[in-house]
Amino acid sequence: MKHFFAPAVLLLTGTLTVTAQTEPIRIDLAQKGAVVSPNLFGIFFEEINHAGDGGLYAELVQNQGFEEHVLPSGMTYKDGKAYAPDAMNYEHRNNRNWNIPWNLEEKKMTGWRVTGEKATVTGEVVKVKVPLHTNTPHAMQLTIKKVQKDGKAVLTNTGYWGIGLKQGEKYDLRFYVKSASYKGSITARLVDGTTGKSLGTTVFAARQLKDWTELTATLTANDTAAKGELALEFDKPGTVLIDYVSLFPQATFKGRKNGQRADVAQMLVDLHPKFMRWPGGCIVEGTTYENRVKWKETLGDPMTRRGEWDLWGYRATWGMGYHEFLQFCEDLGMDAMFVNNAGMSCSVRNGDFVSSDADMDAVIQDFRDAIDYALADPTRNKWAKMRADAGHPKPFPLKYVEIGNENVGPEYVTHFNYIFKRLKAEYPQITFINTLGHTDQLLAQVPGQYMVDPHWYRDPNFFFANNHLFDDAPRTHDIYVGEYACLGGVGAGNLLAAISEAAFILGMERNSDVVKMSSYAPLFENENRRDWPCNLIHMNSLEVYGRASYYVQQMAANNRPSYNVYVSEPTTGDPKTTRHFCQTGYDEQTGELIIKVVNGTDQPYRRSFTIDGATNVMPTGRVIALSGNATDENTFEQPTKLSPQTSLFGKFGKQFSYEFAPMSFTIMRVKVQGLAASVQPTGQQERRRGFQREAFTTDTPMVHDPVMAKEGDTYYIYATGMGIQQLTSRDRKTWTVSRQPVMSVIPGWTTDSVPGFGNHVWAPDVIQWHVAGGLHIVARHLGRTDRPSAC
Ligand code: AHR
Repeated sequence: MKHFFAPAVLLLTGTLTVTAQTEPIRIDLAQKGAVVSPNLFGIFFEEINHAGDGGLYAELVQNQGFEEHVLPSGMTYKDGKAYAPDAMNYEHRNNRNWNIPWNLEEKKMTGWRVTGEKATVTGEVVKVKVPLHTNTPHAMQLTIKKVQKDGKAVLTNTGYWGIGLKQGEKYDLRFYVKSASYKGSITARLVDGTTGKSLGTTVFAARQLKDWTELTATLTANDTAAKGELALEFDKPGTVLIDYVSLFPQATFKGRKNGQRADVAQMLVDLHPKFMRWPGGCIVEGTTYENRVKWKETLGDPMTRRGEWDLWGYRATWGMGYHEFLQFCEDLGMDAMFVNNAGMSCSVRNGDFVSSDADMDAVIQDFRDAIDYALADPTRNKWAKMRADAGHPKPFPLKYVEIGNENVGPEYVTHFNYIFKRLKAEYPQITFINTLGHTDQLLAQVPGQYMVDPHWYRDPNFFFANNHLFDDAPRTHDIYVGEYACLGGVGAGNLLAAISEAAFILGMERNSDVVKMSSYAPLFENENRRDWPCNLIHMNSLEVYGRASYYVQQMAANNRPSYNVYVSEPTTGDPKTTRHFCQTGYDEQTGELIIKVVNGTDQPYRRSFTIDGATNVMPTGRVIALSGNATDENTFEQPTKLSPQTSLFGKFGKQFSYEFAPMSFTIMRVKVQGLAASVQPTGQQERRRGFQREAFTTDTPMVHDPVMAKEGDTYYIYATGMGIQQLTSRDRKTWTVSRQPVMSVIPGWTTDSVPGFGNHVWAPDVIQWHVAGGLHIVARHLGRTDRPSAC
């Protein structure tokens, strides 16, 4: 047979390399799977890789307030290091003597340069007696000794690796000066840092500067420069204090004051995100508890915001603070997801934590105040009044609150229970999120309704092999996959990484009855600062581009079906090693069948399809495909080298075939008519699991809490899973994994005795009960052994 089969493949495809499958993939529109969550695709912002300062936040001056060198809150300086408080780590229950290198002097001048042209000048960052604002005690002190005719002392800011200036655009300048001795004028100049060319100036005439004086002007750039600079020039001797220097483009996203860079924000608009998670990530936890993000310090005039050292290695200004985040969510039509510290710092850093009732009450109050800031009535709540005073009397779209980030273990369970119980009672409209993984056994100790937030940063093999990860996930809590990215051995994020993520996304979509939300991470990288190996969107001072993974996110979000429909081969071949995936759904709004195919191999992939459950399939539809070489990456030079191409395909029908490009993610959209009337046969089990799939065999079964028994010549394994997972084998080498659970409907006594039990049965046991051949199963749930149930 094989001898005849090979030439047939040749004839069919015209190429030796095409993978041929004999059986068509069958799609049945009459079999409805999970409704796909409208909120499945969102974004997660964290201040990492200069995502905000030097990225999305449009401020152009770095180290505006000369606070960059200030130690992380709660840490003390000694011999070139910053030391965390001596405290017990909440997870490891030890003192880690946590410290980080700290180069005080180098940090002070971050972003700044002091020079004299025919002038003698020194500049020093000093703590001043009468600061511009108590939150920001430091300032630049220029000591200008001598200035010759036409000479000047110059304080220059180089921005975030260059200030991006655009010809014809207007920039608002604001800075503060104080001096008893300086009698000269001050010139503010936009400069092309590469050529030294002046791109625009404004002169502030000599004036009384005895007290802190605000100087403002609008400058227009007469040319474009990627490495622009802002120079403040002084033409007379004297001692001058300078503080809070800000240069802000007028052309921000939606023209918002203190807003976002328009081109960077547009990249997010184009992702059509349904929600935004903010402000982190590990920085929410802090390297010490005191170093956590304190949202209250991110409000008000940016000049008064003290900022905080960000555990990714630089000081966050929090110029884009809580209010700006909420406003941005509203501007993009997204729901806001706020993450707040749970009373514990990051356990891979210092891990110190609070536990007294008074401290925990303060933690809870901080959550309350944040929720009230976003949602409460300004006439009744002081935080809501601050929102109104900041120009937004109406509530913001805050819908989700996450209690901590990546916190783990029993201490977190105690904290979560304490916080969640109270907040849920007070804010029933908020969806709260727990940071434990979706299979963490500790969830059994956390009663109530909340989402869970597992994270995955892994290599391509993991993402390909885990298309089925959620098929057997417990259905007890909705899942928000808050952070995931392929980052092992894929350069700065090549096509292979993106295609493997597409395979993973198809699994989330298939299981969207439980996976309700997801967000790739991290979102941004300034090209000059990489704190994390792979990041979705890259930018420099003037340009921005999305990696291939960006386009996978966009394709998935733009082509989210209303509900899944049956497909015979979600994966082709061994799910652990396959690179071929297919997911199908129906878009109720457009009346289209959506077919998504991942080909993660370097060979073309030809498949034929049979479509059932509709009387008519239109011949012409759209094909949106992302493909290329596995190692290809987008760059500033070729920003859209890897981006989806849309074409028309005219050979759709109830039977059709298509050749998918090597290393590709393809989405087909074709109109279908005459859907079967019985399109909603969804039983409870289907709702929970997407679809029952065929059994498959494997030599490495992946099971949790297995128990093995033998009857006749067959071995049986029963394991933790929905309705108890079962496997059989004759030789204990090759196992057949049944896709049907032992119990598709759980016995009534389980829910009677354990209210809220959701059919995720743990650690089954098998015993022989009096009579030969009778198997009885003991289901253990929530850490207790319940009565046996005869099966
Ligand atoms: O996204 C980068 C980091 O990864 C996040 O800060 C943290 O939550 C995770 O460990």
